[in-house]
Amino acid sequence: MSGNSGKEGWGSRLGVILAVTGSAVGLGNFLRFPGLAARYEGGAFMIPYFVSLLILGLPLAWGEWAMGRYGGRHGYNSSPGIFRAIARNNTGAYLGILGLLVPVGIYMYYVIIESWCLGYAWYYLSGQMAAIGAEARQLAGQASAAVSPAEGVATALVSKEPYTRLFDSFVGESAHGAAFGGPSVVFLGLCFLLNFYLIYRGLTKGIERFCIFAMPALIICALLVLLRVLTLPGILEALGFMWNPHTEKASLLEALANPRMWLDAASQIFFSLSVGFGVIITYASYLKENDDIALSSLTSVAGNEFCEVGLGGMITIPSAYLFLGGAVGSSFDLGFKTLPMVFESMPLGYIVGFLFFVLLFLAAVTSSLSMLQPAIALLEEGLGLNRRASVSILGFVTLCGSLYTFYFSQGRMALATLDNWLGTFCIYLLAMYQTILFGWVLGPKRGMEELHRGAEIKVPEILGWVLKYVSPVYLFLVFVGFLYQQVVLENGGMFREPFEKPLVGATVVFILVLTGFFYLIIQQSVRRWERLERGEKEIAL
Ligand code: ALA
Repeated sequence: MSGNSGKEGWGSRLGVILAVTGSAVGLGNFLRFPGLAARYEGGAFMIPYFVSLLILGLPLAWGEWAMGRYGGRHGYNSSPGIFRAIARNNTGAYLGILGLLVPVGIYMYYVIIESWCLGYAWYYLSGQMAAIGAEARQLAGQASAAVSPAEGVATALVSKEPYTRLFDSFVGESAHGAAFGGPSVVFLGLCFLLNFYLIYRGLTKGIERFCIFAMPALIICALLVLLRVLTLPGILEALGFMWNPHTEKASLLEALANPRMWLDAASQIFFSLSVGFGVIITYASYLKENDDIALSSLTSVAGNEFCEVGLGGMITIPSAYLFLGGAVGSSFDLGFKTLPMVFESMPLGYIVGFLFFVLLFLAAVTSSLSMLQPAIALLEEGLGLNRRASVSILGFVTLCGSLYTFYFSQGRMALATLDNWLGTFCIYLLAMYQTILFGWVLGPKRGMEELHRGAEIKVPEILGWVLKYVSPVYLFLVFVGFLYQQVVLENGGMFREPFEKPLVGATVVFILVLTGFFYLIIQQSVRRWERLERGEKEIAL
């Protein structure tokens, strides 16, 4: 079986490790994780977080690398092709639709947040943030008598108002379409061009080369910012907030009894590691038959955790705690309002702010790139298209989705709906399907053989058992908990919203249209693969 004749491959082992780590390290590490950890008061959250890492994230990452390379050996790079090769039937191919919907759909809003990071880096570099900072200090000076000590140093020194105004006008918070007249549309255009230019250049010359430059660069930026944060007075108490497993509001046991925290921890692990994303499976499929995958997978998981907990968590939460007493708000509030206030309040803050947004931007690009490759792989191996055609089609589809999300900016409802349905719900579904595929269809014996071919470390055989029994049960329980929370606790939650809010309904319809589009492509691909398997001549498309 083969869908892809002119197979691409990675240039070097370091390249593939940096590309997979680059896919994992992203906005999830530096914004989503700190936002969640702060919501659950730091330390207590780390317990379900590490349990999810050990039971779901790490095993499934190994499983995805093994299934990806297995599919690559059979000539496939896309989820539909790989799942079909493993399941040995066309149903596998159709279920691979999730491996396209998740990354492509997430790309549509992820690239918008990426463009905000680029815009903020530019604001620091061009001095516009200094003007905002001066205004914020002036306003705080006028209002300082009204600030209580509990609100923290930054609130006393700088007012939040100019930062809120800047962010709201940048993202078009006031009305739908408001951002079209502003600078953010330019930054979005630049991000789109960069992503598609790199994807057009291909795996080695585009993705791999960019990651080899961007990953060390972002880690250097992060280390410099971390150095500044760790030398702030009072940092030890702030680190205690992040690491001590207790909460202010409840005992540790009470905090751990909150099912929502376990759900959020599991979903963070998936989002952060790019597991259940349809990405690793495609990246791993470009490896050679005897390339190591066991150690490479472990290295990229470890690299992601270093960036998430060691850099993302250590920079943002302690500094926000020091200057604002832990009142950090949502992930977007934290990144685009709270942290600029914190940077304004600390010595060398403009340099730190610039470095921080550069690192966010680089981390976001290495992730968004990886979200495009799965669909490019299908268009090429399924329909037999060349690179120019596949990049043009995907560019058009993602541009429609991003402009839709960008236009409906008020309340960021379109973005939040895509994130709820694709970035949470569909990730759970794909992760569940992949666990079953590894544990019950490929089977632990064949799966572990695949993982160990060419491996430089021996993964304990118990992994096969974990992926067959423990991960699916844990994942199932988390998923049931998720449904219970939505349907019962939140009175219908995300399932009721589309019927009540027209924009949410329209966004769900948009997701269904995207599903239909991928369904048609998979249908054509399956027909073509069957023709090729019967030895029929290729029909040029
Ligand atoms: N894994 C990517 C992130 O953490 C998507 O942002």
